[in-house]
Amino acid sequence: MSRDAIQEAVHAHFVNRTETPAFIPGETPIPPSGKVIGEAETQAMVAAALDGWLTTGRFNTEFETRLASFVGTRRALTVNSGSSANLVAVSSLFSPQLGAAALRPGDEVITVAAGFPTTVNPILQNGGVPVFIDIQPHTYNIDPAHLDGALSDRTRAVVIAHTLGNPFDLSAITAFCARQNLWLIEDCCDALGARYRIPDTHDVWWPRTPDAADPSLWCRAGDDARERHVGCFGHLATLSFYPAHHITMGEGGAVLVSDPQLAKIAESIRDWGRDCWCAPGCDNTCKKRFGWQLGDLPQGYDHKYTYSNLGYNLKITDMQAACGLAQLNRLEGFVSTRRANFDYLTQRLADCTGLLDLPQPTLHAQPSWFGFPVTLRAEAGLNRVDMLQWLDQHKIGTRLLFAGNLVRQPYFDGRAFRVASTLTQTDRVMNDTFWIGLWPGLTAPMLDYATEQLRTFLGAGW
Ligand SMILES: Cc1ncc(COP(=O)(O)O)c(C=O)c1O
Repeated sequence: MSRDAIQEAVHAHFVNRTETPAFIPGETPIPPSGKVIGEAETQAMVAAALDGWLTTGRFNTEFETRLASFVGTRRALTVNSGSSANLVAVSSLFSPQLGAAALRPGDEVITVAAGFPTTVNPILQNGGVPVFIDIQPHTYNIDPAHLDGALSDRTRAVVIAHTLGNPFDLSAITAFCARQNLWLIEDCCDALGARYRIPDTHDVWWPRTPDAADPSLWCRAGDDARERHVGCFGHLATLSFYPAHHITMGEGGAVLVSDPQLAKIAESIRDWGRDCWCAPGCDNTCKKRFGWQLGDLPQGYDHKYTYSNLGYNLKITDMQAACGLAQLNRLEGFVSTRRANFDYLTQRLADCTGLLDLPQPTLHAQPSWFGFPVTLRAEAGLNRVDMLQWLDQHKIGTRLLFAGNLVRQPYFDGRAFRVASTLTQTDRVMNDTFWIGLWPGLTAPMLDYATEQLRTFLGAGW
């Protein structure tokens, strides 16, 4: 069968598909998250399969280029998950190739406990010490008021996520990192497409990689850099392409980076830790494959098998990249539907604020919402488990804000960490917060029904 005939067969499969069944309230599930894929993604994956290349190849090169250009970083490096992206980003800061600027075991990293475990785990996996501070209500993001109190003489970095697609206070965080000369990693796994504008009243700080002579990690930037996508503000940033996320390739993620030295380190850690940067299937990109002498290896030892970092193999296949490429074409549409659904849910629940805390976008931010978080107020006198069960009985999917309070998770027992503020809001999230879906696969009748059931349980009437 020719390539054309196969692609025609794929087309016929989609043309002949029956329409999505009508939504039946109380019977049709309303998942909190999901993927929207169709013929374009399948055609792209089939094309990649027919290439027979399998590992990262032409689709991956195009995906990395287009993703970096969308976000506004110099490089995007694909990896096999958002967790792997965080592992690569944090491990890069521990690379001895950064010289005096590298983190060392025992160094402290400021973060939050209300979030996803694999934002924080790579700090522990590298021997660093996470230092937890509280979050703000409503935005569910780090509370910058606690930053100064978290400092010690071992503080070296800040690693935090833009919670559920709502950017954290980038003016405060970048200014703090610039002032204290700290590395910043933005976990954008839930926030692809979100933007932030540094207000005119604030200085704009742009990350810079240090060298031994100039240990400054940040420089003042011009006004033209004020508004950017999240992912451009830190030294490194990360994305996830798991099906719940803004775009998907099944499993997948990416590290975003603009500094050439950091990019080289991150690529090396993704690709076994090797010093060589040849793409799969290529040889001698450096033009001196047998001309290097590194470590205690003999002169001329094959560069392909020379390792300068403690690495992994976290690459994706070209089929995944092909799916991601097709999804990139839809990204702007996905983000605006998520925003519109957020506004719709806010409007439907606007008069419940006595019983429920509704989410608020961070000042100066245009979020790219991942979910719609709400927190039960004490005035409601209701139990979250009862509420989640009620929604579950009505086929309305819910999720918690991931780990709630990480330090209370079983695996944190016996770990080296520090808590540098009260975690009052974090505990409140652990006890009373949950989120419902707003992903592009949900329709207005679904959102109506979800809010109707929420209101019924709250006793807010309709
Ligand atoms: C903030 C955050 N970081 C990292 C991850 C991990 O991504 P992945 O599931 O692709 O490993 C997630 C997962 O949803 C997440 O929400």
